[in-house]
Amino acid sequence: MRSLAVSLNAEVGVIGAGAMGAGIAQIAACAGHTVRLLDTRQGAADEAIHRILADLKKLESRGKIEVGTQERVAENLRSASAIEALADSGLVIEAIVEDLAIKKALYAELEAVVGDECVIASNTSSLSITSLGADARAPGRFIGMHFFNPAPRMPLVEVIKGVATDEAVAEAVFATALAWGKTPVHASSTPGFIVNRVARPFYAEALRLLQEGAADCATIDAVMRDCGGFRMGPFELMDLIGHDVNYAVTRSVFDAFYGDPRFSPSLMQLELVNAKFLGRKSGRGFYDYSADARATAPACEAPGESSGRFEIVSSHPFGSELARRLETADISYRSIAASHRDHRVAMVDGAALFLSDGRTATHRANALGLNDVVLIDLMLDAATAQRAAISVSAQCSEAGRDAAVNLLQKAGFVVSRLRDTPGLAVTRTVAMLANEACDAVDQQVCSAEAVDIAMRGGVNYPAGPMQWAEQLGANTVLTVLDHLAQHYGETRYRASSLLRQTVWSRKSFYAAVS
Ligand code: NAI
Repeated sequence: MRSLAVSLNAEVGVIGAGAMGAGIAQIAACAGHTVRLLDTRQGAADEAIHRILADLKKLESRGKIEVGTQERVAENLRSASAIEALADSGLVIEAIVEDLAIKKALYAELEAVVGDECVIASNTSSLSITSLGADARAPGRFIGMHFFNPAPRMPLVEVIKGVATDEAVAEAVFATALAWGKTPVHASSTPGFIVNRVARPFYAEALRLLQEGAADCATIDAVMRDCGGFRMGPFELMDLIGHDVNYAVTRSVFDAFYGDPRFSPSLMQLELVNAKFLGRKSGRGFYDYSADARATAPACEAPGESSGRFEIVSSHPFGSELARRLETADISYRSIAASHRDHRVAMVDGAALFLSDGRTATHRANALGLNDVVLIDLMLDAATAQRAAISVSAQCSEAGRDAAVNLLQKAGFVVSRLRDTPGLAVTRTVAMLANEACDAVDQQVCSAEAVDIAMRGGVNYPAGPMQWAEQLGANTVLTVLDHLAQHYGETRYRASSLLRQTVWSRKSFYAAVS
């Protein structure tokens, strides 16, 4: 049984000296292993080592890493000119081109030279670990070790067990990633593993909002950053990843789940790929990156006006935050009692303000027999958020809209108005992220804790989706999804069985799912 990490005395082989392989080789060499880096392209491994050593030298001179690291890595890291040089490896990590047949042919060559104890790991981001290892001489030693780009900086490693992978191999690889200073999580071999599956709604909901004309890219990006707390907006992130890559991942997850509408690729993104507008790397994607391009600013409402008093439901969590902000700005308001019937957070000049619950403002106005209804999108942290995203009912008067905008501006928010789409931007995205996380946990892909660690460590989310759902309340998340499902009439928004069970169990979210 290999219950310990791959020994530091063990040699590590890395195959593929591209973006990922070079980063992985650097990590293993920094951790103290002798590393052999192999690439079929003549000179590629030496070039990669040269770049790694130059980068480490820079980091050393800036005091970012310990002095002597570069020298140590220079001693540990060697290029290999043939696969036979990897014969003594205790662990080989493959990071070559994403092609099942080419990878499997490589494993056959590799198994002919390495010893029986050698663990073979693939850094694949989309292929089934079970399929990759199926023809191996010893499939039990075959595993996924999925690093994130740039590997030396991103903490997450998904340790992915295929059907035939030995439990002890998974534990040894987990312990190895930990010893290398990484944050590993266990996952089972399913499409997209954890991160590439659970992150799909982050892109998909934004693309859908854009397609529905909810707002332009710059406004949706600003709302997701400033209200949702995401480090980058979905459109700027897709432009950075490249639309060819991002579309291909969505397409492969969609196909692997037999066309589940939850993962439907976007026709709008496909058009960008067809046009070769691939994002930053091609100079144009959703944004224009040419030298003379004008920066696109998010849309903001002009200063609003109100004639009446601000009335705040201070017992509502968001209302109490509004009250605190108004007090800080020395603006007077009147506290009003909560209405158990409709959960409003504030009133001004007859306009009622609510948080989004997945219905449109128009639907809510109709249901309540009101005209002037303004909805506010979810905020990660209402105390520090700089922006409020709103939508306004079709029945709303201009005076009612202006008064609601005025209230939010007086409370210190820049206000961006979206078209009246259900669930606005952050509310629907966070509900769908939490829903996907629930399904991944429900279908035994990973634990509830692992999904939070993965989304924070792999894609820098400001909160894990389960943690966020816990904070919002499972009931709220379920309500948003049910409203989205009802509005669109699509199974894309169907709630996870685990989410419903959590609500019915009346337990805290974590207690119910663990
Ligand atoms: P890359 O294109 O930068 O590098 C691949 C390298 O493999 C090239 O240098 C190529 O010459 C070499 N190669 C191709 N076939 C080979 C073979 N049979 N033997 C030895 N070397 C061979 O690709 P990148 O981006 O580093 O991706 C590598 C793997 O990592 C893929 O499986 C990809 O899905 C996965 N991955 C990529 C991420 C990314 O953001 N780029 C993130 C996580 C995983």
